[in-house]
Amino acid sequence: MWHNVQAAPADAILGLTEAFRADKHPEKVNLGVGVYQDEAGLTPILAAVKEAEKILVANEISKNYLPISGDVSFATAARALIFGAEHPALREKRVVTAQAPGGTGALRVGAGLLHKFLPDATVWLSNPTWANHRGVFAAFPQKEYPYYDANRMGIDFPAMLATLTAVPAGDIVLLHACCHNPSGFDLTPKQWDEIAAVAAAKKWLPFLDFAYQGFAEGLDEDRYAVTKLAATGLDMLVASSYSKNFGLYNERCGALSLVAPSEQEAAVAMSHLKTVIRVLYSNPPAHGGLTVATILADQRLSALWRQELAAMRQRIVDMRHLLVDGLKERGVSRDFSFITRQRGMFSYTGLDNHVVDWLRGEKHIYMVAGGRINLAGLTTKNIAYVCDSIGEALIR
Ligand code: LMR
Repeated sequence: MWHNVQAAPADAILGLTEAFRADKHPEKVNLGVGVYQDEAGLTPILAAVKEAEKILVANEISKNYLPISGDVSFATAARALIFGAEHPALREKRVVTAQAPGGTGALRVGAGLLHKFLPDATVWLSNPTWANHRGVFAAFPQKEYPYYDANRMGIDFPAMLATLTAVPAGDIVLLHACCHNPSGFDLTPKQWDEIAAVAAAKKWLPFLDFAYQGFAEGLDEDRYAVTKLAATGLDMLVASSYSKNFGLYNERCGALSLVAPSEQEAAVAMSHLKTVIRVLYSNPPAHGGLTVATILADQRLSALWRQELAAMRQRIVDMRHLLVDGLKERGVSRDFSFITRQRGMFSYTGLDNHVVDWLRGEKHIYMVAGGRINLAGLTTKNIAYVCDSIGEALIR
């Protein structure tokens, strides 16, 4: 069957990790995949997670299936985290949440649900966007709205707004709620107000990818876009992930929340979402969701988790400054100060693909094509090597 078939290309992001693992160079640095690493270059299990797991294992009495939409205590806690416990949409019971296998799983079941009811809708993606979005929404026609502008080293908001103003009613617009992946540039609250007003006026459907809550400013600040769009009273979807903020990468824990104009409509939406989930994976894996729910239900563990999340966020901010200063110290004339204005794990560095390839081939430094780096791959130990190498690449 496969004799005459060409192999598929390696994944643009996860394929890099495979190549990095196979690289034997002692100074290799992985700035590719969006996974947090600490100062020792490790992806730690958070202390709050370890404690919650002990509680879970001690009390576990069954490995029975979860419901199709996942654990109820997880869904309730996740909803409060995503929207804020006091959001009117929660009080009005017009938000329903299903546990999903990671943020990608949440996006995918959301796409499956929408395809059932809006098969002809176009999905609008930001230019650029996360490499996997195209594949996740492959069943739909796709178009792009302007976002990152290399000349401004930031967002071309007027162009973005103009395009979104012309999106037809019933189309789907995928938005990055915070920590835009790959650019690292986020809209301001005022700009989100304008986007929410346009969504409401034009009646397109917002689908928010919320994979990095807590990595920009904080858990509360980072939900601004979600709360604003949910307040319009229209339909919307939110895919959230607990890979990054709880460090639960390999547990595959995420959630899809459906916001509807009324409680009745939200219940109908959930009934159909369950049919989509049932044929894909039947019901989600339990451990990650139960871990999140255990932490969020316990004041002390919650406080510990918030502290650990803040420390991850701060370490990334520190690395942004060290990188900018390090490049300046090496006489690099290009202004990289924009890196300190970007938020979350990523920076679109503006390094072109020649430089990206050279850094990988000559220096064993891995970054995603297009020049995206994961700041969390930097440490005080490898920063000098990375700055030397980028400096060399640019001055060569
Ligand atoms: C990334 O963008 O690197 C992360 O979201 C991980 C992934 O699955 O691509």
